Amino acid sequence: MRKQIAAANWKMNLTYQQAESLVDNLLALPHQLAAHQEAIFAVPFPYLTMVADKLKGKQNVYVAAQNCYTKKSGAFTGETSVEMLASIGVKHIVIGHSERREYFNETNEILAQKVDICLENNMTPIFCCGEPLSVREANEQDAFVAKQLKESLYHLSADAIQKVVIAYEPIWAIGTGKTATSQQAQDIQAFIRQQLAGQYGETVANNISILYGGSVKASNAKEIFSQPDVDGGLVGGAALIAEEFNTIINSLK
Ligand code: PGA
Repeated sequence: MRKQIAAANWKMNLTYQQAESLVDNLLALPHQLAAHQEAIFAVPFPYLTMVADKLKGKQNVYVAAQNCYTKKSGAFTGETSVEMLASIGVKHIVIGHSERREYFNETNEILAQKVDICLENNMTPIFCCGEPLSVREANEQDAFVAKQLKESLYHLSADAIQKVVIAYEPIWAIGTGKTATSQQAQDIQAFIRQQLAGQYGETVANNISILYGGSVKASNAKEIFSQPDVDGGLVGGAALIAEEFNTIINSLK
């Protein structure tokens, strides 16, 4: 059975002290993760070790980075390598969030390199894709997302692609409070799985977790996650509130 995942994306929010209390408050709340379920916290770089320490000994709960560089090491001031992240116990990295694509000019080609360096270091990339509003209004979201997948992922072997988690995040739903309907999420995520099946076969496609992201909150998580091709969520705003994110974890199927 493929993994069902609740992933928090803190983005560039919280001070160290606020981050500590958020994790403490969350861990104090009741949640139960079955063997096929995971909770992941993608936190700012300076908090990775602190959060990792707090999560030590917790089953199926991981800390993740929000980005990495394409190169192994060297004279790249200000960047963070996958090797560095691996050396502090990080096992997941968010790759290609729409904010990275938009504000930091990350292209499908650059993201293909980031996916590669993650996999070379046994790191799980949480690969983000999703269309802007103009594309959705023109009803061209399927082709748009298909191109993102093709250009960043289809060079991978069938074995390698099963180590990737995909997060579909329509840009018009991110931070806007305007969630895709559960049917919209299901439709495009079924399409993504079909595309993967066309490329790698059905067995491979059925092993890949596809998360939905974009204004997921405690009140809509269960309905969205209940869709057959939605394997959990990547959550921004609601992941900054312990009770909200805990309910989201408890909404995994
Ligand atoms: P949101 O962000 O939940 O605040 O819409 C989701 C994301 O950007 O991953």
